[in-house]
Amino acid sequence: MTSVSIRNLEIRYGQHAVIDKLDLDIRDGEFLVLLGPSGCGKSTLMNAVGGLTDASAGSIHFDGKDVTWADPKDRGIGMVFQSYALYPTMSVRRNMSYGLRIARVDRATIDRKIEWAAEVLQITHLLDRKPAALSGGQRQRVAIGRALVRDADIFLFDEPLSNLDAKLRAELRLEIKKLHKAIGSTMIYVTHDQIEALTLADRIAVMKDGVIQQLDTPLNVYNKPANAFVGGFLGSPAMNKVEGQFSTRDGTLTFETGGFALDMEAYPFEERVETGQKATLGLRPEHIVPADGTSRQLEGTLSLIEPMGSDILAWSDFGGISMAHRLSQEDSYTVGNPFAVNIDTRKASFFDQATGKRL
Ligand SMILES: Nc1ncnc2c1ncn2[C@@H]1O[C@H](COP(=O)(O)OP(=O)(O)O)[C@@H](O)[C@H]1O
Ligand SMILES: [Mg+2]
Repeated sequence: MTSVSIRNLEIRYGQHAVIDKLDLDIRDGEFLVLLGPSGCGKSTLMNAVGGLTDASAGSIHFDGKDVTWADPKDRGIGMVFQSYALYPTMSVRRNMSYGLRIARVDRATIDRKIEWAAEVLQITHLLDRKPAALSGGQRQRVAIGRALVRDADIFLFDEPLSNLDAKLRAELRLEIKKLHKAIGSTMIYVTHDQIEALTLADRIAVMKDGVIQQLDTPLNVYNKPANAFVGGFLGSPAMNKVEGQFSTRDGTLTFETGGFALDMEAYPFEERVETGQKATLGLRPEHIVPADGTSRQLEGTLSLIEPMGSDILAWSDFGGISMAHRLSQEDSYTVGNPFAVNIDTRKASFFDQATGKRL
């Protein structure tokens, strides 16, 4: 098992810094997910850790040992990519053992490792098949197995499930989680899929434009986004964002939008806010709930619903501001009619309008 320490890492292509003075510490045995939109530098960072891309500046240490310029084969890493790149003419067994045979590992050791990896990945019955006779999910298991037999201290996964259909993705996601539990190795996993990040990670590093925006547990990243970008990137449907400003009404701190006002007394601000200060309210759909008849905070009009099976996604208009919220199958409502809701303001987020930073 191995910890990873990245210091002041810069990767430039010409004048453009794809990774910009990045610091990141990954703990021994941790499952760290790099999450961000396409093109934000996830693969570049991953490849730098794996030794496939040179650093322009900065350093990378594994367990305190400087590996910034170490050859990929000397880093003790196993990599799994989006495209599985299996040799079509070789059996699963030979695909998995290829690297070990090149490294002249003895036959008995190879056999033992293949049996173990195949069992962990539940592909023992496929060992003598060729890749063409496997499903996409099975091929990706083989690619993971190929990395697994290499005695890696760190596993790097770069969008390994992106080529699979939704059902297989969910299945294999669970397998990867079990695999991490079973072998306990440090794992770094790149994805643009927030569900994969939330379900797999011990901690998520949310990236944008080569810069880590927030590094925290899935729950903290979701519940307390460090800035408006993180708030908007995680969550589906997306967080409602409403601009407004703070004011004081009868001695009570209030957030006023063009359409409605919210009492802010219960909100645990991290930064001091001033009357008159402009901000963006970030409110997740699940924090707007139907009023129970006795208490109602906001009166709106239900404008549209989308049944999702387990629940119903709804849009209501509050004084000209449209917000998404959730309804259960038991709720009674009529599209086009008034609809009263309670808003859990303690769970809301507020972001500075200029910097996007959480208030
Ligand atoms: N070899 C390269 N030369 C020039 N630009 C590159 C090279 N590799 C990646 N980039 C650029 O770096 C940025 C980040 O790419 P990448 O790390 O692949 O993003 P991600 O994996 O997050 O989608 C992109 O803008 C990409 O065009
Ligand atoms: Mg990528």
